[in-house]
Amino acid sequence: MKVRFLVSLSLLVAALGVAFSGGKPAEGSGVNFSENVAPIIFNNCTSCHRPGEAAPFTLMNYADAKKRGKLLATVVESRQMPPWKADKGDYEFKHERRLTAAQIETIKQWVAAGMPEGNPAKLPPMPKFQDGWQLGKPDLIVKMSEAFTIPADGPDIYQNFALPLNLTEDKWVRAIEFRPGARTVVHHSLFFSDPTGDARKLDAADPQPGFSGGMAFTGQRFAARFGLGGQNNDAASNPGASPGGNLGGSLGGWAVGAQARVMPDGLAYFLPKGSDLVLASHFHPSGKVEKEISTVGIYFADKAPTKSFTGIQLPPLFGVFEGLDIPAGAKEYTLEDSFVLPIDVKAFGAGAHAHYIAKTMHLMATLPNGEKKKVLWINDWDFAWQDQYQFKDFVALPKGTRLDVKITYDNTADNPRNPSSPPRRVKWGEGSLDEMGSMSLLVTAANEAEMPVLQTAIRNHVRSAFGKRRAARR
Ligand code: HEC
Repeated sequence: MKVRFLVSLSLLVAALGVAFSGGKPAEGSGVNFSENVAPIIFNNCTSCHRPGEAAPFTLMNYADAKKRGKLLATVVESRQMPPWKADKGDYEFKHERRLTAAQIETIKQWVAAGMPEGNPAKLPPMPKFQDGWQLGKPDLIVKMSEAFTIPADGPDIYQNFALPLNLTEDKWVRAIEFRPGARTVVHHSLFFSDPTGDARKLDAADPQPGFSGGMAFTGQRFAARFGLGGQNNDAASNPGASPGGNLGGSLGGWAVGAQARVMPDGLAYFLPKGSDLVLASHFHPSGKVEKEISTVGIYFADKAPTKSFTGIQLPPLFGVFEGLDIPAGAKEYTLEDSFVLPIDVKAFGAGAHAHYIAKTMHLMATLPNGEKKKVLWINDWDFAWQDQYQFKDFVALPKGTRLDVKITYDNTADNPRNPSSPPRRVKWGEGSLDEMGSMSLLVTAANEAEMPVLQTAIRNHVRSAFGKRRAARR
């Protein structure tokens, strides 16, 4: 595996570095596990590196850390761990998983000093981790009625599941918490409400639990929403970055590493009575047969929100209209889109989605006074870590702000994440060997009465992308 190879190469380099600098640069610095390293590990690593969580081994005590000490130093220095793909931009995110330069230095010094334990009496207490539901007891818990089997190997699988909710009244959803049964194979799951019963029929018609068909189901909803009839087969999926609660029944999503989050400031997704909850899940075989039963906890708001929100997705529909065609060997194939805000907005979240060969994903805002702001800045896109980023504070973007998205793809053999060897020509598609790409900004209107103006502008933007594509095909 190329990824492993790179890791071991950097380990070797790290080891040599230590050797050349005399082997014990930190001697006398007194850095030890109990006092200096454990606080970093317990607070930044153990949440995932403990039994029953996503990481493949535990980091809960001195022996755990010592066993992989050099690898720990390598992955924190490269910022592979803790997983957090957003570079420092101009706005802060909630729940940021980033070590400070000083913390990284401490771990490196500890390894270089031979990983001393120090005095175990000085260990910090282990933080209290929430087992089970992270957000407390949900108002409604639903579960897949049958297990879906993921074979040991083979291509990625997209499967949709319709779960009846039996709601007798309309509801507003503050948060949805998703708990995969087979953590090693569930990559992400997107949530939709389906008041039509169509998904349930498709589920019943498919002999397997759930129904396949990639994201065509989702695509049809978008197509219907935007009046793009006839584009169903072309239409896109709706992964990681949810395009927003008021679009086509989206209720957000979950991806590996993501934490369950409550919508800020009383915002909520609308869930019409009688709806089924549709999970559009993506599975990646793990080398052994797995059976997935997903459980979902739904948290309702007591009352209807006073503000609505929407997603601005650039390019729209995951780039389906952009004519993506990435030649084998292309080092920096670029996809771009822009949108000018027609009203003052307040942004509360951002996200990005692409498959394996995307490399950089940049969302820049140019304010009316010409000031440029990095909104979401990913320099080393990794399909495995698709967070939905929530800003610490609402980000005010005035009318006339231009949003520019630039996504680059590296389709060379040098890209360790390229799933095709040798590289092959890649076009837009839902399979993991295909590509797509978009970034999203979730916003409220500064003045709620102006929301329709924004929604119209978004619809027009989608229509114009569709129109350009149709013209290009003629
Ligand atoms: C959000 C969950 C999460 C957090 C937080 C996290 N890890 Fe991980 N870690 C994982 C997962 C999942 C893997 C398995 C490999 C992968 O999917 O990238 C992993 C793999 C690793 C590996 C093996 C890497 C390899 O290439 O074999 C090391 C070492 C590691 N983590 C160390 C750490 C350290 C040190 C921290 C804290 C500074 C940390 N992790 C924080 C989830 C996490």
